[in-house]
Amino acid sequence: MARHLVTSALPYINGIKHLGNMVGSMLPADVYARYMRQRGHDVLYICATDEHGTPAELAAAEAGLPVAEFCAGAHETQKKIYEGFGLSFDHFGRSSSPQNAETTQHFARQLNEHGFIEERAIRQVYSPVDGRFLPDRYVEGTCPHCGYDRARGDQCENCTRVLDPTDLIDPRSAISGSTDLEVRETKHLFLLQSKLQAEVESWIDGNSKDWPLLSTSIARKWLAEGLHDRAITRDLEWGVPVPADTWPELAAEGKVFYVWFDAPIEYIGSTQEWADAAAPGETRDWKSWWYEADDVRYTQFMAKDNVPFHTVMFPATQLGVREPWTMVDYVKGFSWLTYYGGKFSTSQKRGVFTDAALEILPADYWRYFLIANAPESDDSSFTWEHFAGTVNKDLADTLGNFVNRVLTFSAKRFGEAVPEGGQPGPAEEKLGAEVTRLLAEYEEHLEALQYRKAANALRALWSAGNAYLVEKEPWKQVKVDQEAAAVSLRTAMNLIHLYAVVSEPFIPQTAATLRGVFALADDAATWVSPDAATSLDAVPAGTPFTVPPVLFAKISDDDLDAYRERFGGGEA
Ligand code: 2FM
Ligand code: ZN
Repeated sequence: MARHLVTSALPYINGIKHLGNMVGSMLPADVYARYMRQRGHDVLYICATDEHGTPAELAAAEAGLPVAEFCAGAHETQKKIYEGFGLSFDHFGRSSSPQNAETTQHFARQLNEHGFIEERAIRQVYSPVDGRFLPDRYVEGTCPHCGYDRARGDQCENCTRVLDPTDLIDPRSAISGSTDLEVRETKHLFLLQSKLQAEVESWIDGNSKDWPLLSTSIARKWLAEGLHDRAITRDLEWGVPVPADTWPELAAEGKVFYVWFDAPIEYIGSTQEWADAAAPGETRDWKSWWYEADDVRYTQFMAKDNVPFHTVMFPATQLGVREPWTMVDYVKGFSWLTYYGGKFSTSQKRGVFTDAALEILPADYWRYFLIANAPESDDSSFTWEHFAGTVNKDLADTLGNFVNRVLTFSAKRFGEAVPEGGQPGPAEEKLGAEVTRLLAEYEEHLEALQYRKAANALRALWSAGNAYLVEKEPWKQVKVDQEAAAVSLRTAMNLIHLYAVVSEPFIPQTAATLRGVFALADDAATWVSPDAATSLDAVPAGTPFTVPPVLFAKISDDDLDAYRERFGGGEA
């Protein structure tokens, strides 16, 4: 049986992520990891903060902190939020770890040895006042095309034209504002991706047959445009140093690797961190997941802007290393979640960020809504109205109300144990068949990573319980036939238990609450197979239970107004 390696794109260290980031990588990866674990697979779910690069340095400068200190704090902040969302990482690491530095340097040496790295001199802007070369976006000036006076050296925000820093009129340093800038020649390492084009193409041909169109179309587009050699080093203070044993001159100049070179390698680095964090006596073998790991199936999750790096550039790196590192088997890419059709924006405070989301409602509300509306093939839009409608209908009315109604009523009429007596009849048989069919559908969609379809099947399972109650009306049955009412309630309670098991990948906290309802002597069920669902009798008569507090509170019109006010409503 295969082991399953799961990674989600590493969130940048700067700034709290918004709901769009969450639904485009970490959350679907978590649902999949949880599902596969429940099915009894050996799963390793790895993520980390992506800590290097210009944005990290800028954010640290803005916070007035040394970059290492800034990153350490920001990592903890993000980690806590993801715990709050119930993300079940086996390890949430840091790309600034020594493990990642070591593996990144190893990759670079290997690539060099096999002729895929070359030193090239390039002309770059140097600022004597700042005492450093300035990355393109650190140079500001007037756009030669539109006259916008705050254009950045990589692109003009106003007319969107791509620029070279030397195009700018009256250039200045974005760090110090100094206009005393020079163009100096400096050496950088280039990854000769052009030499790897054919290999990447044939790897894609052989491995992407079952990938979603979103992933393959992006990969094909990049390959069609041709792989260009890319500079993989930068003049930054914060990053994985170029190894002095191989490039003494560049190392002495303090060059570090470009963030997109070391970030994907951190999938491996973070796994090494996981292994190094093993408790005494526990064995964690990171290498068995990553090196000559023929039994590992590797699935990656990411938003579409990350797809080229994962389907083309990182594979090129891995192929060029000439060692048997695990390569991705399946790339699940996502489109964008928009906020009322527009962009989530940190600077304009538009949209819902993950910390604020958890401040107002528990994780399961978000998890369910986001996965049920995942932007799988097209963009999807977050609106408060849609969110409230979904929570109120699916979570509060369909699932929550069913659970509470059944348990409260049964406790009142039969006491706090699953009622005894009576025999299941045609209604139960029909329900069993329906649940079996829906469960099979649910499994099929989860296996295929079709989140919206899986959510539909789960919702249909919850609805089947309501339809059954409406048909049986135990509150009427109890007046004329106690045993008949007992059968209905016992069956409904078995559904609750089934929901507890199979809803876990979507709403783990609620699932745990539901599990806790029944004092089952031996509740080892990790999953309910469709066939086992036919009889709906896993929870026997006489099992004690407790009535949990209301599972999901409805979102009122007043709440809605408050949320729109706080987060910005539809005025895109
Ligand atoms: O786009 C992003 O948020 C990047 N930090 C993703 C990196 S994914 C991986 F390669 F590390
Ligand atoms: Zn312009």
